Amino acid sequence: GVCPLNDHHRDNPVALPASRTPGCPFDPPPQLTELARQREPLIRLAFPDGHVGWLVTGYEAARAVLSDDRFTIRPELRHSALPRPNVRPGGHDKPPAPGWFASMDRPEHTRYRRLLTGRFTVRRMKALEPRIAQIASDRLDAMAEAGPPADLVPAFALPVPSLVICELLGVPYRDHAFFEEQTTVVASLDSTVEQAMAAMGNLSRYLNELVQHKRSTPADDLLGGLIVETGLSDEELTNIGLQLLVAGHETTAHMLALGTFALLRHPRQLAGSALDETAVEELMRYLTIVHLGAPNRAALEDVDLAGQLVRKGETVVLGLPAINRDPRQFADPDTLRLDRANAKHHLGFGHGVHQCLGQQLARIEMRIAYRALFERFPTLRLAVPAEEISMRESSAVYGTWRLPVTWDRN
Ligand code: HEM
Repeated sequence: GVCPLNDHHRDNPVALPASRTPGCPFDPPPQLTELARQREPLIRLAFPDGHVGWLVTGYEAARAVLSDDRFTIRPELRHSALPRPNVRPGGHDKPPAPGWFASMDRPEHTRYRRLLTGRFTVRRMKALEPRIAQIASDRLDAMAEAGPPADLVPAFALPVPSLVICELLGVPYRDHAFFEEQTTVVASLDSTVEQAMAAMGNLSRYLNELVQHKRSTPADDLLGGLIVETGLSDEELTNIGLQLLVAGHETTAHMLALGTFALLRHPRQLAGSALDETAVEELMRYLTIVHLGAPNRAALEDVDLAGQLVRKGETVVLGLPAINRDPRQFADPDTLRLDRANAKHHLGFGHGVHQCLGQQLARIEMRIAYRALFERFPTLRLAVPAEEISMRESSAVYGTWRLPVTWDRN
């Protein structure tokens, strides 16, 4: 028979918890944690548009969803758990535009992903290490010259990944203020659909002009290479470039700032850590910056998931902050342990065919940047009380809006 408790929850779906506890900027919304621990791994979720779907809070169920082709990523088939849909070129309720592979299922997705995978291998990314170290070092020089104090977000966290992805793609960094501004509008839940669509349009036009320029002036960068080696259309190239540009700097930037904030709040952990690969994985797990309404998928047919029936057409949202703190997977999950042996099993980069294309790049950037920062400024500390740091609660990518820091001059 049907468990009466589950029946009750079917009739009483919850809204996606989003508010965090003041003073606990690194912990998931307390209501999410509570639901996860009481009712894992699947909870009925009420969407703003009236749809009733599911919220996944358990680690195993999350991996099951992300590795099952019966769940689609197609935007026009999913409901958004956020106040407004995530915008894309062509509109959120239309099939994905040519080249917008992050919103495509197999086999359409595979064709694009294959063209890109070889350009993001561990080996290729490792070859970028010296250049990334140079970029980080240049920003730290500039910070040392102008400060103390400094706001770490514009001084270091944003420019490092932005410079790196610009060089890799072949996008002129001098335009960074423009595309960072547009990206912020696209990602912020405080902007309306119209505002977000307009910003997306501005970004599309910009990338499109760049692609056309590269067609006439061959360049030795990722976009230039795709033009020469593939038969992709301008629209496809524009959309691929746009996804990489947006995904490549926002996320990593906020991991750098939020990770620094977390390290500064855990001084004993920081002092005892080499800030190695394991530490980076643990920061990814503990902070889980992709925190609101994503990833999500819709069932293409009825699916039995963790003992519950997910019906065809229902949208399933993965509550990554809860999933990465599933006590069955991670012992003492609410504690930051920079030497946690299985931290790398977190789902902060997703899982399955859509698992983050740029993860090796992001990992290298984080390892180099955290180390370089704390080596350069061993006395780095917050310049304001921690409670005054304003958090990006209503943005698809969590983090700090600003991070005022200071240090002792040598
Ligand atoms: C996909 C997180 C850095 C490019 C994803 C997904 C997550 C994620 C969770 C899966 C979404 C889903 O399954 O619905 C992150 C985090 C980053 C980061 C936390 C930094 C710390 C990057 C960088 C790049 C990038 C540096 C670009 C070079 C992409 C792309 C996809 C993706 C293109 C879509 C892949 C596909 O659909 O096949 N990322 N990412 N990401 N990421 Fe990242």
